[in-house]
This record gives sequence, structure tokens and C-alpha cells, in this order.
Amino acid sequence: MKVLITGGAGFLGSHLAEAWIDRGHEITVLDPASDLKIRHLRANPRFRAIRESVLNREILEGLVAWSDLVYHLAAVVGVEHYVGDPYQVLTVNINGTQDVLTAAFRHQKKVVFTSTSEVYGRNTAVPFHEDSDRVLGSTTTDRWCYATSKAAGEHFCFAFARMGLRVVVLRYFNVYGPRLDQMDRGRVITIFMGQLLRGEPLTVIGDGVQTRAFAYVEDAVRATVQAGLRPEAEGLAINVGSEEEVSILDLAERMVRISGSASRVIRVPQEAVYARGYEDIPRRVPAVRRMREILGVRADTPLDDGLKRTIEWFKRQ
Ligand SMILES: NC(=O)c1ccc[n+]([C@@H]2O[C@H](COP(=O)([O-])OP(=O)(O)OC[C@H]3O[C@@H](n4cnc5c(N)ncnc54)[C@H](O)[C@@H]3O)[C@@H](O)[C@H]2O)c1
Repeated sequence: MKVLITGGAGFLGSHLAEAWIDRGHEITVLDPASDLKIRHLRANPRFRAIRESVLNREILEGLVAWSDLVYHLAAVVGVEHYVGDPYQVLTVNINGTQDVLTAAFRHQKKVVFTSTSEVYGRNTAVPFHEDSDRVLGSTTTDRWCYATSKAAGEHFCFAFARMGLRVVVLRYFNVYGPRLDQMDRGRVITIFMGQLLRGEPLTVIGDGVQTRAFAYVEDAVRATVQAGLRPEAEGLAINVGSEEEVSILDLAERMVRISGSASRVIRVPQEAVYARGYEDIPRRVPAVRRMREILGVRADTPLDDGLKRTIEWFKRQ
């Protein structure tokens, strides 16, 4: 197959490109970012990377026409963007998704759209099922623009599905692993990782009792590959995540223990980190029945194992 991956130079996209290359297919990545994470694939004749924005309609159209399957991962991601540059978040994540779906509809190509657990917002009824309510804050709080942009992308997916397009929506829950960006100030694991490597204290925001379920990247990629292959997944939203729920305080303590670091874990008030417009979510855990039954995948890499592999990778960089 010919597989197009928008945003394929990023963390998840680079692993996904590798997975499809390993399966013997032809891959094109469309991403304006540096090719640092996909450089090792460049020598492969079945791989090419095009450094362009998904918003370039002419290029996008040609690549969608070329492909058999489109993965749409391109997005402005990261809490610092949600509160720092909401315009860019909304433009790329909504308009880019509409453009990808429009081109895919014109050429009748299947699309896998990568959405997020953020769409559930601060719904307190965990675990989140795919048809659970979205509970979001006010539009005057920039923090919600990412969740809103991804939800709009999902609505576009389902609108196109009604018109006959084959579309799958995946909602990732806190995926982590090698190739996360050490400079990323928006993901808790990368922030802790940077602090560990610099020998600084790990800063837990607030009381640290907020929980997340972290999914190892290999598990998430297996689910993503299956979403592209299995017809049963078409027309559905599917959570992709682990059921192993941990508090952020526990995560920090595990990372210190596994890395053998002398760093301490300290707590900082939320206002000291996010001065304005940020609201945290107390618990975020997926219901994973669809992932298990429709995609045939479990995100069962134990957190300690995944963290060990991730920490070792960061230390080697
Ligand atoms: N990693 C997670 O835990 C997680 C959780 C929920 C959702 N997601 C979604 O999965 C996808 C991949 O996320 P990731 O974790 O790999 O993040 P990432 O930031 O590493 O990857 C996103 C990629 O999109 C690219 N991009 C941004 N604007 C673009 C544009 N205009 N045209 C083309 N490419 C553009 C970026 O350069 C980047 O390489 C995103 O859609 C994200 O919303 C990820």
C-alpha cells in the first residue's frame, strides 16, 4: 500500500512511518518540521518526506491522490500552544483536517484521524467511553481551544462518513516513549525527563493527585496500524490508551526510582506554572473495549517497563 502520514515527522508519526515501512509498504510523510525523528528512514527507497504544511492544498491534493490510505496526524500539539497561540491551533487543526478530508473524499481514500482524550474535557465520569459527554470550559479560556479544534475535526470526520467516506477516529490518551521531544514543555513525561537529566527536582503541579493512564508508543502504534487495516473500525471513534491509572506524584516518584537519579520530587502551585487560562483535569482514563475488540490491541506494556525504555533512550541522546 501507499500510505500518507501528515505530521509524520513528529513523535507518533515517526513510529507509525517506521511500522508501515517494516510491513513492506511505501510511505510519504508530509510535515514542515525538521526530519530529526525520521532521518533513519531516509535511506529506504520506500520512504519519502515532504517538508510542507498540510495547509498547502495543491501538494496535499497530489499526495492524497497518490496514496491508498491517509493518516492525518498533523496538528499543533502541546499545552504551551493552547495557551500561547490558539489561532495557530485552531487554523491547523480544524482547517487542515477539513482540507485532508475534502481531498480524501474527492479521491475516495480511507482516512485515520488522530484525536485526543482532551475532547472529553473535565468530565468526571471515568473511564471515558467513546460516546461519553464532552465537558469543556468557557471559550474565553484558551486552554480549551485544542480540545475544541479536535472535536471539530471529529465532527468533520463523521460528516464525511455520512457522505460515504471511510474514516476512523482514534482518541489517544497520553502516549509516551522514545522520540518525545525533550524541549516539549507541554507533556508531563518530557518535563520530568528533562528535569531528571539535568539533575533538577521534578516539579509536580498542584497536589499531584491528578491521574492519567500513559500508553507506551509501540502499543498505540499497533492500534493505529490496525485502524488503517480493519474495515470494522470505519465510522467509529476509538479510544487508544492504557488502563493503568497513576497519579502524577506516583509517576514522578517512579521516574526517579527507575532512572536511579538523585533528583527530588517537589510540588509547585499551579499559578506558578500556568499564569493564566489553564485548567487541569483531575482524572483521565479510557474505556478500552473498542480498542480490544475492534482493533484487537491491548496497551499492556507495564508503565515501569515503558518508562525504563524511554529513560534509557533519553540518556543515550
Ligand atoms: N502523543 C499523545 O499522547 C497524543 C495524545 C492525543 C492526541 N495526539 C494526536 O496525535 C497526533 C500526533 O501527535 P504527537 O504526539 O506525535 O505530536 P507531535 O507534535 O510530535 O506531532 C505533530 C506533528 O504535526 C506536525 N505539524 C504541525 N503543523 C503542521 C502542518 N501545518 N502541516 C503538517 N504537519 C504539521 C508537527 O510538525 C509535528 O511533527 C496529533 O494529531 C495529536 O493531536 C497525540
